[in-house]
Amino acid sequence: MKSSNLRPAVQLFVCTNVRAPNDPLRSGCGASGPAVFSALKRAVLSGGAGPRVWVTATGCQGHCPASGCAVAVYPRNEHLVEVVEADAPAVLRAALTPR
Ligand code: FES
Repeated sequence: MKSSNLRPAVQLFVCTNVRAPNDPLRSGCGASGPAVFSALKRAVLSGGAGPRVWVTATGCQGHCPASGCAVAVYPRNEHLVEVVEADAPAVLRAALTPR
């Protein structure tokens, strides 16, 4: 094992987990996660954030919102839920804003 030299300033982890509609843990983020993932990728590319921001699809993050999807923002360790496609620009803007 060795450490990679590639290190984003911000990484957005988007849950795209799909469950059956009758699953006791609800249907998961699969209904909206892929659209949120694509919208965040577009926002990164069109906003000039380029290689500083990575957008990564994930499995379940444990939040399992009833609607929308979960997005984890690092290095902030901020966990957003009920994120929908239209939220992508605001998610990116907040992720790039210093605290
Ligand atoms: S299915 Fe997305 S957080 Fe659990």
